[in-house]
Amino acid sequence: PDEPLVLGIETSCDETGVGIVRGHTLLADALASSVDEHARFGGVVPEVASRAHLEAIVPTMRRALDDAGVTLADIDAIAVTAGPGLAGALLVGVAAAKGYALAADKPVYGVNHLAAHVAVDTLEHGPLPEPAVGLLVSGGHSSLLLVDDITAGVTPLGATIDDAAGEAFDKVARLLGMGFPGGPVIDRTARDGDPAAIPFPRGLTAPKDLAEHRFDFSFSGLKTAVARWVEARERAGEPVPVADVAASFQHAVCDVLTAKALDACRTHGVRTLVIGGGVAANSRLRVLAEERAAKLGIEVRVPRPQLCTDNGAMVAALGSHLVAAGVAPSGLDLPADSAMPL
Ligand code: KG4
Ligand code: ZN
Repeated sequence: PDEPLVLGIETSCDETGVGIVRGHTLLADALASSVDEHARFGGVVPEVASRAHLEAIVPTMRRALDDAGVTLADIDAIAVTAGPGLAGALLVGVAAAKGYALAADKPVYGVNHLAAHVAVDTLEHGPLPEPAVGLLVSGGHSSLLLVDDITAGVTPLGATIDDAAGEAFDKVARLLGMGFPGGPVIDRTARDGDPAAIPFPRGLTAPKDLAEHRFDFSFSGLKTAVARWVEARERAGEPVPVADVAASFQHAVCDVLTAKALDACRTHGVRTLVIGGGVAANSRLRVLAEERAAKLGIEVRVPRPQLCTDNGAMVAALGSHLVAAGVAPSGLDLPADSAMPL
């Protein structure tokens, strides 16, 4: 095994993740989540997340090394998410990466969280054909990215101008009284509903919006439309058809995400679409993307759900690309950058 052994640390949101890869082979992916601690607030509380990372980072690190059957001394490089994300949460991972790097005399690579969401697909589907388009949809991000060379970074094509897609799922689930996180519950509930039952709006798809926001998303109007529709039903004393609301809302989100992602592929002559982030676990999104892409001769890559949500393996995967490409490490003055550009 001449391929580098790379350890990746992820702490940008509510998951403490440590992953280990050899080349593009996944050896360990240890995860500790504080999601249950945030549930009663209906969203991630930054201070709670930072404290949870502090408690989890050392045990998660130990578990990853144990699972991979290696020691810190065996590791060739340590990669860490340096941004974007919650400032206090990122700091825990970056400080830990520097500490381990200093103690064991290893190079440290600060990586971009969004680029890592794209790179993780190589652990499942092998080398990424470039150029590719990345669609990243999570509780914190909804972005379209162009990937010419993953080791040089990624180019933003568009992003949400208000709520992230996952945030919309969470907010709609909350107003339907379904709990947090909302995505999985809506996905399940929608199975019994009709996606064409209620014509909810598609944000930024009108001709005048497309001129300026062709590859951008907007989900806050959709969320408000769902709230108004439900309120009107309740005011009229009629029952709310929860499954139809969930299915129609979910379809509205997935319709716009897939239409814009495939438009980006066509515009940039790209034949591979990679979808990542927690919302990539959505069953409707996967089916719709594949149906529509097949008609255009475009390949859709979606890693398994475990690799779509935040984890350490994705950071290790991108780190492994950087090491293989001979990119210079970051150095021990690496800052955590909550608003890191792409
Ligand atoms: O990537 P992730 O685990 O964390 C970050 O936000 O970075 O994504 C979590 C988001 C939540 O908003 C959750 O509701 C959503 O992903 N999600 C889903 C599904 N599973 C998780 N959304 C739609 N359908 C799903 N099956
Ligand atoms: Zn993420």
